[in-house]
Amino acid sequence: MNCNIGVIRGDGIGPEIITEALKVLDTIAGRYDHNFNYDEILMGGCSIDATGVPLTDGAIAQAKAADAVLMGSIGGDAKTSTWYKLPADKRPEAGLLGLRKALNLFANLRPAYLFPQLKAACPLREDIIGDGFDMLIMRELTGGLYFGKRETTEVDGKRLAYDTLTYNEDEIRRIAIKSFEIAMMRNKKVTSVDKANVLDSSRLWRAVVEEVATDFPQVTLEHMLVDNAAMQLVKDPKQFDVILTENMFGDILSDEASMVTGSIGMLSSASFNESKFGLYEPSGGSAPDIAGKGIANPIATILSAGMMLRYSFGLELEADVIEKAINNVLDRGFRTIDIMPMPGEDTSNITQVGTVDMGDLICRAIDTF
Ligand code: IPM
Ligand code: MG
Repeated sequence: MNCNIGVIRGDGIGPEIITEALKVLDTIAGRYDHNFNYDEILMGGCSIDATGVPLTDGAIAQAKAADAVLMGSIGGDAKTSTWYKLPADKRPEAGLLGLRKALNLFANLRPAYLFPQLKAACPLREDIIGDGFDMLIMRELTGGLYFGKRETTEVDGKRLAYDTLTYNEDEIRRIAIKSFEIAMMRNKKVTSVDKANVLDSSRLWRAVVEEVATDFPQVTLEHMLVDNAAMQLVKDPKQFDVILTENMFGDILSDEASMVTGSIGMLSSASFNESKFGLYEPSGGSAPDIAGKGIANPIATILSAGMMLRYSFGLELEADVIEKAINNVLDRGFRTIDIMPMPGEDTSNITQVGTVDMGDLICRAIDTF
């Protein structure tokens, strides 16, 4: 198969983890006779350094021309990086938001599950972990607080700023439909998270989700207030299957959900529009504090590449092989620093490795299947 993949290395640990993911893709291409062509796209801080803006029209055109885009991470240290001396709409994050909007990537899927091998890295108590958990956060990605009207101004001599949380019913409906469709392929439960006891936008959200639910009678729908959801994620994460929520709540809850799994470095994420096109990226950020040290966990990015093969290219077998290879490497006790057992846990048979070694181990495991 011939696939044109847009590649955004980005900032911080982005370039390091992307290098490992491309290594894995090349291994797959060699073994299964595919042609993966990479088109490097500048976005984020590296684009600011090269062009003065975080996302150029040329970069958008490259992304649109690709069959799918694989991304590392963008952004830097807000205290020390000169990028953050720029106005907000010229900073690295504005590039990512602009790309999401330009490609209409309204559905962001963030799976959070516990790898059984990594129970010892999970910060939750053993009785809460039980047999593990497996949930999918469906985050609305092109509306809500992130894209509503905002302003920083001055009223009566006082500085004032506001952001608005706006949704129309179509925006809610399309993400709700996607959530129910995915729930049908999983455990048939949707927990829609909102703040309907306070916000009008949440009350509309709830009403539209209820309407969509009538078309999916086999799916159990439950509503949960966002503050309670934050608590339930650490109290009883097993109760969740698909969590459907608006942009900002999803941003916060998806970090929490991934942390309770033991490592944000293990979780992939995909963003879709109505077509098969997807933007695939690790759930974690650019981690500027560890950039260049060779210790970042590349697994989330490698899993994102696997998701790309599965969902954008229909290469199920190849995606399975990537997942199997990762499990094999974890079974054999190899860990990057972020997924080392918590203090006090057993570390016999565990070997700590860096970014490049982890990538090499996964490639070699692929070659043995
Ligand atoms: C994420 C990130 C982004 C977001 C930032 C980098 C703009 O936190 O993908 O979760 O808030 O959406
Ligand atoms: Mg986030």
